[in-house]
Amino acid sequence: AKQTITVIKGDGIGPDIIDATIKVLDKAGCDFDYEYADAGLAALEKHGELVPQETLDKIKKNKITLKGPLTTPVGEGFTSINVTLRKQFQLYANVRPVLSFKGTKARYENIDIITIRENTEGMYSGLGQTVAEDGSQAEAMSLITREGAERIVEFAYETARKEGRKKVTAVHKANILKSTSGLFLKVAREVGERYPDIESAEMIVDNCCMQLVMNPEQFDVIVTTNLFGDILSDLCAGLVGGLGMAPGANIGRDCAIFEAVHGSAPDIAGKNLANPTSVILAAIQMLEYLEMGDKADAIRKAITEVIETGDRTTRDLGGTHGTTDFTDAVLERL
Ligand code: NAI
Ligand code: MG
Repeated sequence: AKQTITVIKGDGIGPDIIDATIKVLDKAGCDFDYEYADAGLAALEKHGELVPQETLDKIKKNKITLKGPLTTPVGEGFTSINVTLRKQFQLYANVRPVLSFKGTKARYENIDIITIRENTEGMYSGLGQTVAEDGSQAEAMSLITREGAERIVEFAYETARKEGRKKVTAVHKANILKSTSGLFLKVAREVGERYPDIESAEMIVDNCCMQLVMNPEQFDVIVTTNLFGDILSDLCAGLVGGLGMAPGANIGRDCAIFEAVHGSAPDIAGKNLANPTSVILAAIQMLEYLEMGDKADAIRKAITEVIETGDRTTRDLGGTHGTTDFTDAVLERL
């Protein structure tokens, strides 16, 4: 049967970069059906909710979702939509690959790192949040479970194996956060022993930040807890040319949501300036997940050629073109 993909265009630059990506998928000959769903500000205006039940039902039914960035209104009592979706569908693994392209304004030309971030626990558990009435103190709970840690570290080693990668680095702060990060590190060491074919390394998160900037070539797969993964993956995006180049997959047992790492970029929305590479690369992750590697490779080849020859690239890549010209350049090569 034909695969149906739930598509959420999202807010700000979302519709432009999602439309560009659908054109690319179609041109590459991917025979998908698309079912559109609303979330974010677009949904709030239409349905009075940020994530309507109808959208949740479609995500569940089709299992595969391609999603643009969503704006969560700040200070109006809304919880983050992304956090809601990750919790609701138990999307425990956030997979964020960064790969350098030559000839961009990026700092490095030889980066190929996947950050695998635990996506449901840690400092983002949402548990135990209190603020003293007089505002003098606030608390929140970090939660690490053995099950959660084992699941994400195994996922990282399995990914390494599947992709023929050589090394997994567990990033932690067990020297200070002895209980939570301590448990994560203990479990990471145990799991690592079950994968003798892959080199296991560990690194304290602050040192890891410095190492990523000074000597990023040493990294292959990074596995870490929620907050550290959030920060490190943006740092990694910065190594290869910024957020416009950074895709992410949120993967659970039953469902997966593929998206850009960046937000809705209100500063450039509606101006035809957004770089669609982030979502096109997310679609490549989606194709690999669906075991459509030949389509993934064809799209990767086309976009690499556009970026590396500077044929109609966007401003964040050092070019002078807009979203539609860039997309046309990719389409012409497919
Ligand atoms: P942002 O990621 O939207 O923008 C940061 C900077 O990067 C801006 O200067 C923007 O122009 C630039 N940028 C982002 N994507 C780009 C692209 N594809 N091409 C060229 N330049 C790009 O972060 P910001 O401004 O902090 O957040 C804006 C909104 O997005 C907020 O409402 C936030 O809640 C939401 N957000 C949503 C996310 C999601 O849905 N996954 C993730 C992060 C933020
Ligand atoms: Mg983030």
